[in-house]
Amino acid sequence: MVINTYIYIILFSLILLSLNTIQVFSANSNSSNPYILSCGSSKDSIDSDGRKWSSDSQYISGNSTTAKAQYQDPSLPSEVPYMSARIFSSSSSYKLSVSPKQRLWLRLHFYPSSYNSLDKSSSYFDVTANGFTLLKNFSASITAEALTQAYIVKEFSLIPIASGNLNITFTPSSSHNNSFAFVNGIEVIPMPELFQTANMVGFDDQIIDEQSSTLQTMFRLNVGGQYVGPANDSAGIKRTWYDDSPYLFGAAFGVTFQAEKNVSIQYPSNVSESVAPVDVYSTARSMGPDPKINSNYNLTWVFQVDSNFTYVVRFHFCELQLTKVNQRVFDIYVNNQTAQPAADVIGWTGKIGVPLYKDYAVFVRDETGDDELWVALHPTVSMKPEFYDALLNGLEIFKMNDTRGNLAGPNPVPSQMLQDAEEATAGANNPSPRAGGSKNKGLVIGGVTGGAAGVVVAAAVCIVVYHRKKKSQESGVGAWLPLYGTSTTMTSRKSGTNTGSTSHVSSLAAALCRHFSLSEIKHGTKNFDESQVIGVGGFGKVYKGLIDGGSMKVAIKRSNPSSEQGVNEFQTEIEMLSKLRHRHLVSLIGFCEEEGEMILVYDYMANGTLREHLYKSNKPPLSWKQRLEICIGAARGLHYLHTGARYTIIHRDVKTTNILLDENWVAKVSDFGLSKTGPNLQQTHVSTMVKGSFGYLDPEYFRRQQLTEKSDVYSFGVVLFEVLCARPALNATLPKEQVSLGDWALHCQKRGALHEIIDPHLKGAQINPECLKKFAETAEKCLSDHGLDRPSMGDVLWNLEFALQLLDHPGEGSVVAEVRASDACAMHIATLGIEEESSTASVPVDGLTDSSVVFSQFVNQQGR
Ligand SMILES: *[C@@H]1O[C@H](CO)[C@@H](O)[C@H](O)[C@H]1NC(C)=O
Ligand SMILES: *[C@@H]1O[C@H](CO)[C@@H](O)[C@H](O)[C@H]1NC(C)=O
Ligand SMILES: *[C@@H]1O[C@H](CO)[C@@H](O)[C@H](O)[C@H]1NC(C)=O
Repeated sequence: MVINTYIYIILFSLILLSLNTIQVFSANSNSSNPYILSCGSSKDSIDSDGRKWSSDSQYISGNSTTAKAQYQDPSLPSEVPYMSARIFSSSSSYKLSVSPKQRLWLRLHFYPSSYNSLDKSSSYFDVTANGFTLLKNFSASITAEALTQAYIVKEFSLIPIASGNLNITFTPSSSHNNSFAFVNGIEVIPMPELFQTANMVGFDDQIIDEQSSTLQTMFRLNVGGQYVGPANDSAGIKRTWYDDSPYLFGAAFGVTFQAEKNVSIQYPSNVSESVAPVDVYSTARSMGPDPKINSNYNLTWVFQVDSNFTYVVRFHFCELQLTKVNQRVFDIYVNNQTAQPAADVIGWTGKIGVPLYKDYAVFVRDETGDDELWVALHPTVSMKPEFYDALLNGLEIFKMNDTRGNLAGPNPVPSQMLQDAEEATAGANNPSPRAGGSKNKGLVIGGVTGGAAGVVVAAAVCIVVYHRKKKSQESGVGAWLPLYGTSTTMTSRKSGTNTGSTSHVSSLAAALCRHFSLSEIKHGTKNFDESQVIGVGGFGKVYKGLIDGGSMKVAIKRSNPSSEQGVNEFQTEIEMLSKLRHRHLVSLIGFCEEEGEMILVYDYMANGTLREHLYKSNKPPLSWKQRLEICIGAARGLHYLHTGARYTIIHRDVKTTNILLDENWVAKVSDFGLSKTGPNLQQTHVSTMVKGSFGYLDPEYFRRQQLTEKSDVYSFGVVLFEVLCARPALNATLPKEQVSLGDWALHCQKRGALHEIIDPHLKGAQINPECLKKFAETAEKCLSDHGLDRPSMGDVLWNLEFALQLLDHPGEGSVVAEVRASDACAMHIATLGIEEESSTASVPVDGLTDSSVVFSQFVNQQGR
């Protein structure tokens, strides 16, 4: 059965691939003169997608110089166009001749880096295009920092230019000394007119004309689906579609699904693939199966935007499950106003599998100081539809130029969390910029080679894997439109219960999860009664509790208010978890920040931590299959952290007490207090202190203070041996060579004596030799001394699934090996589509007792 699914997925992938190829091919033949310019480059070059970028030199007029970036951030999707730049110290223009009647996509690529020893933080500039102001006083470096990303792409859709002459002008800002402008890449791509009119939300019958404006793309989401990169977008328009889950509000995030194979996507005459590709229409998010729950909540997304602009919100729909009118009918709200009552997709399209989009416009006013755009769906109960449910396949948000032809907003304010991190490192790594530069270089080389090794591994398998793998890597590094312009710190803006003090939580994170009052928490935990304590760690205690009138069981983590470290970890946990939703990550329900308390509320996990089922407890031992499934679940969670998000997120504290189990034994990774986003970390070298737990620490990280996702892989290797051997990662009572499980297990494995140390409960019929061999080899590779030699979390996941196959079908190794080739696709679909059942259970207990000493600071002596 499992094998059938795999085969289906292979077929499905092949079909998608072939469709994509055809689309791209035919599109290229009819699109007229696109300009794809690698700025500052003297010759033509090819990017990692195989796309050709031309030199910009023949189009530029005015003074400019060219430069190479001094280092390559590992998160750059490709060297081209980011590693070369054109620098302007005075106003200069690109002059391009374009077709006079055609709307154009204009994409500007910026990689803020050191160019010719210019200080990236002193670059502020304006960009205009034929009378429209696209950017004003723009700082690429502040923007990148606030969005925690290495590079920025700004996309605009320019109204047709009657003269046929497009002038793109870069002007250094006069209000800053020594300012300069720069750009790394420019794309000008003719596009079909995709804009018509939109209904103004909240004003009956007021229609806004989209065609007479230049627009900027703010968000473009493949709702319920995965990242679709430029290479896979339809019709050669090279757009990027991101996963919508980071923008979902609250704990209720509905269910995701994709078209069954008997449903084909059939574009009607008024919607072409240039509107959105099949990948977007063939996946969706709905509210879930329970009509009661659905009628009590709104499926809601929240976006940060600039105020004083009109936004076009484009909803992409395609019914994939139902066939009749009045089966699924819902209201669409934009910023608390009804944009569309009683939307019925089948009512509009007449048929299953037929794409459709609807535009609504809304002006975002500056009144409240809170520049957010909310989109919400709710079943139209009054229509008595057959199912109380809603549906969305894709969502785009475009900003329209204002009456003065301006599109520029202010530079975002970096979140407090990031500023703190900056300050912390500024102290440690201040000296000369040169010293900082050379240190960065070292880090970067490591990262780049790591990426290359990953590609080699993938290429070895088969073509399907190669394509999918590449895609997943893209989604790791180039993905997610940023959480746009997040987070000025929030002052009690939402409710009166929040007693006045400034919050540590960014407004976006705050918007994404629920606020609890202290009295609710006290009531739910019997005033923090000791009888409710289910765990204790360095941060404080974890209580079990009840909320919502006793109807919901939760785990409540109360930080020790005295610990300064607590503040940072509290922030990190909220910032991370509020934006990450995954079946194998513990879910944060909300938080309470009142009277100096910092309290986090999670799903309750009925079966506690993985460790308590392995040793030192009187619980019945887990079967081998259960253990394997738990490891697979945890590996999925970590794989999602490493590749599913915009940035590689490094957990930094992977251990058996941070893997929790719900009532169905589903594994959930917990405790994000130490997590860091990868590239940002490397760029600003935040890692002046080694953190983590003894026994699980990557020796390379320890030696070189260089944090990569491979550090998590190492820790996970220890977890695998812990699961197999049922003993702690460190046990000081054993003879010296046996104290560290990682070292001891490796030693036994190399001697071929692993069977001597495996959990006696597993001996006998439980593990067959093939399965054990695969599992042990995987764990061994995770513990490789050098990060580069360790597999990626994705590879670990393959291998564990393979081991599970070997357990179920011993002797079918060869069949399974072939099937394994499709696992990259399976994984991708699984990890991104799996958010279905919102689980109710979790006890985030961490750092429990015994030998896993969490040590807080290991100051880098060399860094000073
Ligand atoms: C928005 O417009 C109002 C009224 O013109 C003005 O007072 C306010 O400062 C503007 N806000 C921003 C962020 O530009
Ligand atoms: C859904 O959103 C609308 C518009 O903001 C609001 O009026 C309604 O109360 C919300 N419903 C629920 C159940 O939250
Ligand atoms: C955008 O600019 C054009 C040209 O200046 C103008 O006609 C149009 O009304 C502007 N759009 C909006 C929404 O103000």
